[in-house]
Amino acid sequence: MQEEQDVELEARLADQERFEPPESFVEQANVADGSVYEEFEEEWPGCWTQAADLLDWDEEYDTVLDDSNPPFYEWFTGGSLNASANCLDRHLDERGDEAAIEWVGEPTDEDNRTFTYEELHREVNEFAAALRELGVGEDDVVTMYMPMVPELPIAMLACARIGAPHSVVFAGFSADALATRMNAADSEHLVTTDGYYRRGDHLEHKAKADEGLAGVDHEVSDVVVVDRLGDAYDHPMADNHHAYGDLVAEQAGAAVEPVSRDAEDMLFLMYTSGTTGQPKGVKHTTGGYLSWAAWTSQSVLDIKPEDTYFCSADIGWITGHSYIVYGPLALGTTTMMYEGTPDYPEKDRLWDIVEEYEADQLYTAPTAIRAFMKWGTEYPDSHDLSSLRLLGTVGEPINPRAWKWYYKHIGGEDCPVVDTWWQTETGGMMVTTLPGVKDMKPGSAGPPLPGLDVQVVDTNGDEVEPGEAGYLTAQKPWPGMLRTLYNNDERYISEYWEEYSDTDSDDPDDWVYFPEDGAKVDEDGYITVLGRVDDVINVSGHRLGTMEIESAIVGVEGVAEAAVVGGDHEMKGEAVYAYVITEDGQEGDAAFEEEIVAAVEDAIGPIARPEAVVFTPELPKTRSGKIMRRLLEDIANEEDLGDTSTLRNPDVVEDIEAKVRDD
Ligand code: PRX
Repeated sequence: MQEEQDVELEARLADQERFEPPESFVEQANVADGSVYEEFEEEWPGCWTQAADLLDWDEEYDTVLDDSNPPFYEWFTGGSLNASANCLDRHLDERGDEAAIEWVGEPTDEDNRTFTYEELHREVNEFAAALRELGVGEDDVVTMYMPMVPELPIAMLACARIGAPHSVVFAGFSADALATRMNAADSEHLVTTDGYYRRGDHLEHKAKADEGLAGVDHEVSDVVVVDRLGDAYDHPMADNHHAYGDLVAEQAGAAVEPVSRDAEDMLFLMYTSGTTGQPKGVKHTTGGYLSWAAWTSQSVLDIKPEDTYFCSADIGWITGHSYIVYGPLALGTTTMMYEGTPDYPEKDRLWDIVEEYEADQLYTAPTAIRAFMKWGTEYPDSHDLSSLRLLGTVGEPINPRAWKWYYKHIGGEDCPVVDTWWQTETGGMMVTTLPGVKDMKPGSAGPPLPGLDVQVVDTNGDEVEPGEAGYLTAQKPWPGMLRTLYNNDERYISEYWEEYSDTDSDDPDDWVYFPEDGAKVDEDGYITVLGRVDDVINVSGHRLGTMEIESAIVGVEGVAEAAVVGGDHEMKGEAVYAYVITEDGQEGDAAFEEEIVAAVEDAIGPIARPEAVVFTPELPKTRSGKIMRRLLEDIANEEDLGDTSTLRNPDVVEDIEAKVRDD
């Protein structure tokens, strides 16, 4: 059955390389006029007032872009606003009784929770008052180590209300990862949960949070614990631990005046993996980031206030920040949150949710789409998905076959699919089709959004010819961009700008942002992103630094050296492959492998779990002693090894290759 459908799909869609936006979509699209591209180019940077105009400002800005000190760009300077007021208060008159958040818990037998704008506003005020009472002041970083419970966006908005930046740590990260991030941000406040549900089981989260807290190098003044599991999990509470429910109850009915924040004041920090063992604290601001999240939500996701919009990402990653919380709520729509996995209790859970809530948009990751494909069309086919108007993907390249499957079996060939390229650092979407304007080309994200100057260049920084591979760059700044790495301006320059900029110049034209992705561009200016060119692996759309994983592995007793690379993986896109040299006398057996895997899980979390641990007597190195990662990747991918003549120890390649094949 499945095979027959695939054959049919193949026959009809396989050769089609271009898809026009459906007429029914264009007729109602937020952006349907293609002149926006020229208009933005001509008016740049003034074009970005269109993004800022989507927000309510306490104080109007006087300059759109201050580029006097590149690459420390400032946007909408002189303006002030509050993100929580923009996401809540201003919608109360017209949308107070409409749902702001539709939250779906993983267990199917429980009450799901709807928060109207009125209710969300009330609870955000109460928690904001509680945070103040605990001593959280403006600019104090509050860490959240929380799964997909409604209290997570509530806590984020409560922080935004009082001008305290948040730093959300993905709940799947380990205790160590929490401690590293709290230390780096000097964060003295933590909001967490007792636990959550995963495939029907209770996951106890508080013990992990406590373990992380034990690794924090400064005093943590308070810990707020959301009760998700009820009586199912009795965890110890220290003196400075408070139950979330008690705190908001004490503040019942409290009103907290939103603090007016400078456009350039930090809204949040988000730690992301880089090429060193130390994660990077990406700083996003109130005016530029929020404008960007709102404008891209409106023009790319086509969000309208009356929509029910469903993004299946986790708020612990940037996608959830921009496109579950800030973008959709700034536009006054209904945003959905789902706590669990798409295959619980059955593999049709997402389709069940789409049908029940009549979702208008679905924004998900290629990894999920590949899983849906594997599970088969009977799951989406058993539900009415006709409410969907637009589909989106993010996080990793999507292969044309998965794109077409999504287009046909989820969108019924009636919804545009936006393949959106962006990063934690860019704050929001950068390269994708405007769905009411541009044709789609499966496998290619699309042209840069209006107002962006994104180019694919060679190693000299010159634009490559269509069809040639090169490096993605942004030649002009944009409002949603990161402003710096927290407390580390130097690393900000060296990570993102040094490669293609004249760093001695104060002319903004000499500064080029380098996202560390490879890409190619076609004759129509459509960009296909090829993947990271640094030592970062993209596992299921989640970004992991090889160095972080390597340092966990070399910490295991008996390991002499380790090299970690990403290899192709049918479902996850990429998977972690670890090559390990043991110390003399240490047996590379299954028990040792388990120990190594456990060390990675402890240091980072289960997402970083190696797919394979390969014990090897040596690693392929250049004459200068640098590990040839590209070669290890080829081995993991069972690719042709090409020229190995620059190797110091070419023989080892065959050994390793043989080992991978045996596994
Ligand atoms: O390599 C690109 C890949 O994900 C990286 C950014 O990861 P992160 O900061 O975790 O943000 C993920 C969600 C925005 C990029 O450098 N990436 C993201 N979207 C795409 C993509 N690769 C190809 N196509 C995409 N649509």
